[in-house]
Amino acid sequence: MKRVVIVGTQWGDEGKGKITDFLAQDADVVVRYQGGNNAGHTVVFDGKKHSLHLLPSGILNPKITNVMANGMVINPKAFIEEIAKLDNFNLKISDRAHIVLPYHLELDKAYEHFKGNEKIGTTQKGIGPAYTDKASRLGLRVSTFIHPERFRLRLSELLKVKNQELRKLGAPRLNFDELYTEYLNYAQVMAPYVSDTSVYLNQAIEENKNVLFEGAQGVLLCLDHGTYPFVTSSSPTASSVPLNTGIAPWLVDGAVGVTKAYTTRVGSGPMPSEIIGDLASHIRKVGNEFGTTTGRPRRIGWLDTVVLRHTKRISGLSYLAVTLLDVLSGIDEIKIATSYQFEGKEIDYIPAEMADFEACIPNYITMPGWNEDITQVKTFDELPEAAKNYLNKLTEIVGVPLAIFSVGPDRNQTILVHPIF
Ligand code: GDP
Ligand code: IMO
Ligand code: MG
Repeated sequence: MKRVVIVGTQWGDEGKGKITDFLAQDADVVVRYQGGNNAGHTVVFDGKKHSLHLLPSGILNPKITNVMANGMVINPKAFIEEIAKLDNFNLKISDRAHIVLPYHLELDKAYEHFKGNEKIGTTQKGIGPAYTDKASRLGLRVSTFIHPERFRLRLSELLKVKNQELRKLGAPRLNFDELYTEYLNYAQVMAPYVSDTSVYLNQAIEENKNVLFEGAQGVLLCLDHGTYPFVTSSSPTASSVPLNTGIAPWLVDGAVGVTKAYTTRVGSGPMPSEIIGDLASHIRKVGNEFGTTTGRPRRIGWLDTVVLRHTKRISGLSYLAVTLLDVLSGIDEIKIATSYQFEGKEIDYIPAEMADFEACIPNYITMPGWNEDITQVKTFDELPEAAKNYLNKLTEIVGVPLAIFSVGPDRNQTILVHPIF
């Protein structure tokens, strides 16, 4: 494959950053195609940990061209904070991406507040309101943002509408002059990176370059195919890549589905295979399952293959990359959810209504665990038999072959069992 999508197969935080960084060693271009700084992607190599939110996970390698594509929503202040930590990088930003402004963050907070117990548990980064504005034709595109006079005119129009919304919700209103002056500075820092990235990508593809499309979030957080309304506001599927980057659909060769060896979720919404109690606390501690963006403890569950087959159907998965396998060491028996009981029947799909999904009880198979420390394993054959059986079983039930598994956060704790490029 030459053009490969990295897809989160669950509810996010599967290790997409790590797998992107690993595969990027053989890539020329890494593209983020949706989401904003709601994402938190961790990359570890040479003993150093890097947390990326907006920047593609190829940014730490100056030989890679990194693209923030049109499908993204970009908070300029967060962007500048993120690039300030780097010295040598190669980046292009789409002139058609949208800008996240402070009123989006205020609206995100206000909506969550008014939803009370029904709240989504968003990252409060303004992502939903920014995509809402894009769809309502009330958005600010990067191309307008970096043009001082057009930005001034557009912002003054937008702020009239937005300040009314903020007032109705009891949220603080924003002062035009202060906002314009502050953000004009950010626009100037951003401007040199901006271009029509669709033109660049099509050219790179014509030159036969290896391109990775790095998804944020996971398919169960997809606005269309996720557990709505407990989702994000963009589509992390492989099928959203062409629209969100400006390439033809048939130019995408395949997708690597990044799958945690168990399940985690941050935020509200049903999670049928959720584990409550000591075992969940143990996994959370060993797997360091606290959000990269918000620091919130992640909810823990067994691997759910109904979820993975849903992702396979919706997004298409050529291979699986199974991460955090080491975290399961020392657990006597490991469960895998294979189907659900719902209204007296066995089902293999995710109901559209969350009240129905909540009522689904997983059917499990139980696999024997292993006690060995596997963090130094370098090949599939070195794994304990029980760990091999677990990987074989899960790939068999999902019906997607294994390409990668990982046994620790570091880049060199990643094992390639099937070539991707
Ligand atoms: P992303 O959002 O999909 O990029 O994932 P995050 O970076 O938010 O969360 C994954 C977490 O697991 C990070 O802290 C990674 O450093 C860590 N991680 C990734 N792969 C492994 C692994 O194989 N073993 C362990 N123990 N940690 C891993
Ligand atoms: P990465 O890319 C895990 C979740 C939030 C909330 C819902 C909506 O690191 O995997 P939003 O702020 O997007 O409106 O929140 O989506 N969420 C994530 N969960 N990983 C992420 O990104 C997430 N991005 C958003 O917790 O439930
Ligand atoms: Mg994350």
